[in-house]
Amino acid sequence: MNYDMNKDTQKIKNNEQHKLIDHLEGNAVIRINNVTKTFGDNHVLNGFNLVLYEGENLVVMGKSGSGKSVMIKCLVGLMAPDSGYIEVMGKEISTLDRQTLDKLRSDIGFLFQGSALYDSMTVRENLEFPMRRHRDKLGNVKDTTPLVLEALENVGLAHTMNLMPDELSGGMKRRVALARTLILKPKIILYDEPTSGLDPITAKEIIELMRSIQKKYGTSSLIITHDVDCARVISERMVLLVDGINYAEGTYSELSASTDPKVEAFFKK
Ligand SMILES: Nc1ncnc2c1ncn2[C@@H]1O[C@H](COP(=O)(O)OP(=O)(O)OP(=O)(O)O)[C@@H](O)[C@H]1O
Ligand SMILES: [Mg+2]
Repeated sequence: MNYDMNKDTQKIKNNEQHKLIDHLEGNAVIRINNVTKTFGDNHVLNGFNLVLYEGENLVVMGKSGSGKSVMIKCLVGLMAPDSGYIEVMGKEISTLDRQTLDKLRSDIGFLFQGSALYDSMTVRENLEFPMRRHRDKLGNVKDTTPLVLEALENVGLAHTMNLMPDELSGGMKRRVALARTLILKPKIILYDEPTSGLDPITAKEIIELMRSIQKKYGTSSLIITHDVDCARVISERMVLLVDGINYAEGTYSELSASTDPKVEAFFKK
C-alpha cells in the first residue's frame, strides 16, 4: 500500500515537473540551438545552446575571446552562424527578410560592449537615433522630448540632454547608452559587458539600474560579463561558455560551489 502511494506521488511529481518544463519552454524568448561559428581554423562556437525565459536575468560568463560577443552578434543577426539555429520570440533569425529582422530588432535592446555613443551627436540626438530608425514602432512622434526625458530620467541623467558625449564621464556614457537602449521599450535587453572599464562603485550603480529597469518594464535580459560580482547580484541563472559550448549551467550558488576546475576558475578572485 505504502509502496503504491509512493509510486503515485512520484508520478504526480513527474507530471508536475513536466508541466513546469512545458510552462517554462512556452515562455522562452530566445533559443540558441547547437550553434557553431568558425573563423578560419579558429573554432569559436562548437555547438552552443542557450534558452532565455521571459522575465529572467540570465548571465553568460566566459573568458576573453571565448566567443561571447560572437554569440550575441549571431543572436541579433549581425553575424550568421555556420550551423545550428537561433530563435528570437518564436522567429528563426536566419529565415527573416531584412524588414522583418529590423522589426524584431526594435524589440531587442542591445547595449554594446563599450558605450558606442555617436561622438558627433548630442545625448538627445543619440537617443533620437533609434527612434528615427524604428519609426514604425513608435508611430509618428512629433515631439521626442517626453520620450527622451523619460529614458534619461530612468538612468538619472535628464540634465545631460544637450551635452556632447565628450562632456560625460565613462559611467555617464554607459548610462546614456542604456537610456538609448531603453527608448524603444524593448522586450529583451542584451548587455555586452555592461560594467567593464568602470570603477566598482559606478559598476554597482549600473547593476542597480539594470535591476530597476527589469522591475519597471519586465524585460528579459541576457547579460554577458566577466564581472563575478555583477553575476552574483544580477543573475537568476548562469551559463558558462567554455570551449565553445554551454559548459555549465545553474544558479550563482550552484556554480560557485562546483568543484569542476573549469568552473572553479571563474570564481577564483
Ligand atoms: N569578425 C571576425 N573575424 C575573425 N575572427 C573574429 C571575428 N569576430 C570575432 N573573432 C574571433 O572570435 C573569437 C571570439 O571573439 P569574441 O569577441 O566573441 O570574444 P569575447 O568572448 O566577447 O571576448 P571579450 O571578453 O574580450 O569581449 C576571438 O578569437 C576573435 O578573434
Ligand atoms: Mg566581447
